[in-house]
Amino acid sequence: MLDVLVIGSGGAGLTAGLIAKAKGADVLIVSKDAITSSQSAMAQGGINSALGNVEEDSVDLHIGDTLKASYSLASSEMVDRMCRGAINAVEWLDRLGVPFNRTPEGRVAQRALGGASAKRACYSQDYTGLKIIQTLFDNTLKENIPHLENRFLLNLIVEDGRVKGATFLNIETGDVEQILAKSTILATGGFGSLYRNYTTNALNATGDGVASVLRAGGILSNMEFIQFHPTAMKSSLILVSEGARGEGGYLVNSNGDRFIDELLPRDVVSRAIFNEIISDRDVFIDLRHLGEKRLLELLPQELLLCRVHEGIDPVRELIPIRPVSHYTMGGIDVDSKFRVNGLDGLYAVGECSNSKVHGANRLGGNSLLEIVAFGMEVGEIAVDELKEVTTPSTEQLNRDRGYIDEIFNRDVEENFYQLENNLGEKFYKYAGIIRDDSGLKLLKRRLSSIDISKYGILDRARGYNRNLTDFLQFLNLLDVGRAVVESAIAREESRGAHFRADFPESSGKFLGEFHIYRYGDELKYRFVERESL
Ligand code: FUM
Repeated sequence: MLDVLVIGSGGAGLTAGLIAKAKGADVLIVSKDAITSSQSAMAQGGINSALGNVEEDSVDLHIGDTLKASYSLASSEMVDRMCRGAINAVEWLDRLGVPFNRTPEGRVAQRALGGASAKRACYSQDYTGLKIIQTLFDNTLKENIPHLENRFLLNLIVEDGRVKGATFLNIETGDVEQILAKSTILATGGFGSLYRNYTTNALNATGDGVASVLRAGGILSNMEFIQFHPTAMKSSLILVSEGARGEGGYLVNSNGDRFIDELLPRDVVSRAIFNEIISDRDVFIDLRHLGEKRLLELLPQELLLCRVHEGIDPVRELIPIRPVSHYTMGGIDVDSKFRVNGLDGLYAVGECSNSKVHGANRLGGNSLLEIVAFGMEVGEIAVDELKEVTTPSTEQLNRDRGYIDEIFNRDVEENFYQLENNLGEKFYKYAGIIRDDSGLKLLKRRLSSIDISKYGILDRARGYNRNLTDFLQFLNLLDVGRAVVESAIAREESRGAHFRADFPESSGKFLGEFHIYRYGDELKYRFVERESL
């Protein structure tokens, strides 16, 4: 049995694996896709750390900005830890070899991002996430940390309230396998793909870890808080980094007017853009005044992606944009040591978790920070809390083998891909930037009316069956989607990214989190006040 099983190989998983290994643990990192394929690699703008390298800043200012952006829903203890840990996190990345841009004096360069009272985001051009992931991965190779790709998480193995590993579909062979471990860390990312065709996320951001916790009897929280990034390219939905506005890009509408301070927090900017669009005005980001030399130096990826995927040259043309889903603030409910409530031996970190640092809205640059600062912490904690455990029975393994066989033998009446696309549109419309009770309830009825036994797979190949993994991902999205809708209906107020047209103000009644759990086949929720979180 392994000491530490890390599921997920984005920034949080790779960091946790490196730290657990450095503490002497026997570690394995498992991922469903190629090991560096993750949302972390797509993050562009930067990682926050109050280094004060280009203008005056302090950890206290960083804490204050993060708490303010959370609309009173973040935990001051956790925010304090993350923001203080940021100094060490960036120094660690720098030592590992992340090629951060430098000031003329040779310090790590920093840029402005929304909602920050100083230039705080450390960056590597606009490839920050990619450079971090490549560096972390190189270091896992250097440290001989084994990894397995093409393993799709099916279920956690839980015995007597303790998690002892997980079952996986081996995508290469189609077999169901189990991997046993004394500690399991979920670093499986968010579920932005719920908003299919309305998201900056890759198709594989399907909340697999989040759904596995729900199935295992764990709790999800803050599921209603979905971040919509203000600037995705209008056709391809590729992210135009907040770094583009941080470097001086303007937002303009089709009348040529600037209608919002570009560096306000994302929820505010996204709503302002959305209101322009529903008033029949297109919205653009204007980078032309920055000039080609500066764009090539600071935002080369934007330049390339715009030219290749939108057929737009930002040096000469306005870039048409729209706001789409980008990040999920809520997820697996964890305590201050990232333990998953009710499931011993299980930890969750990064976007799949609600570690209480973002609340109702996340600041740009705090996601890369969270995965590194808390990835480092959880790697230590999972090793410190290692306990001998007995080998579990093969009950879960047998159940999951039976389940996969049942999917192969099922008669298919309906096409789930169509439904998935349709739900993406419906989520954007009814659980999007502006929501209300009737739209959310319509969505809830739509989800309840789905008879899942009619859906399945048409490809019967056992190995590398994309149709099967797509279907399993779709089932996970349905589970997390129900939790999003349930929480969004319950929160009868507006706060941060959750804007209710029928309750446009915040209410003191809702200073806390909605916790979602399964009760039989039903989803239940309870409200937990902030003091008792
Ligand atoms: O806009 C961006 O570069 C995204 C950064 C983030 O989500 O933190």
